[in-house]
Amino acid sequence: MFTIENRTTGRSFRTDGCNVILDDALIHGLNFPYGCRKGFCGKCKAMIIEGEVAYEDDIPNGITSEEASDGMALLCQCCAKSNVELVIDELSSVADTEVKMLSCKVQSIKHLNHDVMQVFLKILNDESLRYLAGQYIDLIHHDFEPRAFSIANAPNNDGLIELHIRLIEGGKFTNFVFNQLKENSLLRLEGPKGDFFFREDSKKPVILMAGGTGFAPIKSIVEHAIVTKLNRTIYIYWGVRDEIDLYMDLPIQWVNKNYNICFIPVLSRPNENWNGRKGLVHKSILEDFDDLTGYEIYACGPPKMVESAAKSFVEQGMIQDNFFSDAFVFAFTEKKQ
Ligand SMILES: Cc1cc2nc3c(=O)[nH]c(=O)nc-3n(C[C@H](O)[C@H](O)[C@H](O)COP(=O)(O)OP(=O)(O)OC[C@H]3O[C@@H](n4cnc5c(N)ncnc54)[C@H](O)[C@@H]3O)c2cc1C
Ligand code: FES
Repeated sequence: MFTIENRTTGRSFRTDGCNVILDDALIHGLNFPYGCRKGFCGKCKAMIIEGEVAYEDDIPNGITSEEASDGMALLCQCCAKSNVELVIDELSSVADTEVKMLSCKVQSIKHLNHDVMQVFLKILNDESLRYLAGQYIDLIHHDFEPRAFSIANAPNNDGLIELHIRLIEGGKFTNFVFNQLKENSLLRLEGPKGDFFFREDSKKPVILMAGGTGFAPIKSIVEHAIVTKLNRTIYIYWGVRDEIDLYMDLPIQWVNKNYNICFIPVLSRPNENWNGRKGLVHKSILEDFDDLTGYEIYACGPPKMVESAAKSFVEQGMIQDNFFSDAFVFAFTEKKQ
């Protein structure tokens, strides 16, 4: 096994040298830049400071022989042959991402409970979507206005986008998803969008608050934090109506495997068998933390929840700059206002 270290950020990962360096970096949650992944565009170019890398065939078109002899390498095409120290700028802000319009097909679609559907979209035409954990996409079908949905899986390299779509009573698009959308249906997506993304450069403990399918971007953030071995304490609060609305048991698995993760489900209309926390999710956070000064808080879900939380958290010491949110406003048109 070899260690690959990016001197720009000090972050490193281990590789057996069988995959190209870019793929292993993305699997380990390092946001290395890339474009074509075929050796043409040069976007994954890095300076190799120490160690040896090798291409399977000739030097790819995206790099000149002068650049190669100066120590530059295309990470989407080369594998490590020893420990490697390199220099490359990792993506760390929305400014580093590129909004694209991409064709995709439904890879799989399944009920997570009575009113939430899990949809996996496969991006077509050898394209890819670079995004930051927490961002969303607009889903586009010719019969509807675009609709916003958060990306539920952590950024990686498999060309799959996971969505959790809640059925809205009388909602045109979500009813279409529940009643007509099938495996292999073709759609388009535009993204990534939004400035709700995980700030990795901070050392503060993190409170993640989700309401309903606001769990989707929180899942992406937690999966990313786990894969990058983030050492900060993470408190996950998931507010829903009843137990059946906790549509995934992943948080329990995260808690069992990661000492730094705590999970607190909060039900607003629980059945009589529920012994856990009850009421509004943001009120549970207020009860648990006398002083929110030292925390970074991410809130995602219904606009009312986000609004009430922002106001009362500030009253309890939260610093405005440490609050990040995405409110699931009702329709695409309302988001634009
Ligand atoms: C940034 C962002 C990210 C989002 N991410 C997700 C996500 O990951 N998962 C998810 O399930 N939803 C998410 N939403 C909400 C989602 O976009 C809407 O639920 C969807 O657009 C509804 O489309 P529709 O055509 O079914 O409803 P429409 O036909 O547009 O609306 C019908 C009526 O239903 C009501 N309505 C619509 N949407 C909602 C809603 N969200 N809550 C309550 N009432 C509503 C309104 O009264 C509306 O007039 C997100 C929204 C935003 C802005
Ligand atoms: S990603 Fe285009 S050359 Fe590597």
